[in-house]
Amino acid sequence: MDRYAVIGHPITHSLSPQIHTLFAAQTTQSLTYEGIELPLTSFETRLWQLIKEGYLGFNVTMPFKGDAFDFVDELTERAKRARAVNTIKILADGRTIGDTTDGVGLLNDLQQHLKWTLEDTHILMLGAGGAVRGVLEPLIEANPASLTLANRTLEKAEELADDFPEITPCSFAELSGRFDLIINGTSASLSGMLPPIPESLINPGVKCYDMMYSAEPTAFLKWATSLGAVDLSDGLGMLVGQAAESFNYWRGVSPEVQPVIDELRQRLTIAT
Ligand code: ATR
Repeated sequence: MDRYAVIGHPITHSLSPQIHTLFAAQTTQSLTYEGIELPLTSFETRLWQLIKEGYLGFNVTMPFKGDAFDFVDELTERAKRARAVNTIKILADGRTIGDTTDGVGLLNDLQQHLKWTLEDTHILMLGAGGAVRGVLEPLIEANPASLTLANRTLEKAEELADDFPEITPCSFAELSGRFDLIINGTSASLSGMLPPIPESLINPGVKCYDMMYSAEPTAFLKWATSLGAVDLSDGLGMLVGQAAESFNYWRGVSPEVQPVIDELRQRLTIAT
């Protein structure tokens, strides 16, 4: 059977094996998909071993998206611009191609699943790490009226603005005004923390999206709810969406995401 895996460190909590197994069943594709934890210090050596063992593709998660970018022989255009790789395809001649599907995953979740309009809206992105860099290009292509990017370390926001001149960088303290959509792309939710943005930005009209997901609402979404926000979503749909794009990149078949989002949401709820 064709073999695929997600590689990261740690990997135990990854939902990717469940997602791809559901996709394979739905599309009657014959494949296996595992989670493999690679040691932090020998990414390249271990990955070569896995390729020799016959794996046909990998998803790459934290903290290896940059290593994967350096590892592959070729890059898709969008991976070049995002400077990150979350999907590796092994060709028949052994060459490796790196792609990034995070941005498509986010955009599909926002526009197709949640049906949130992005064109001509004012968007605030929080964070300037690898996760945010990976989604900026498709967000810009959605033609928002403005895209403000706030980060704890202002220099990092400014560096991103050098590569993506359409964004307006600022610090959290400088934030004011009115936004239609706020996307939390910081890793603060991982430790149950909040990016320090003013309460005045939250009102019943603003949509709030957290690129993280968990069984319980994330700290950011709980906080936004307490201040009256009603249109909220975590990043489970983004996760399934990026996986669907990877699956399609490997297999040439596009799985349906909604049944898989529903199934995972149910499993997450049962597990708590
Ligand atoms: P990732 O790959 O998840 O993006 P990263 O590259 O380490 O991880 O970036 C983490 C992002 O979350 C950064 O924007 C970081 O802010 P700094 O650039 O100032 O470090 C942001 N971040 C992490 N914890 C945060 C917190 N408690 N409050 C606000 N921002 C936080």
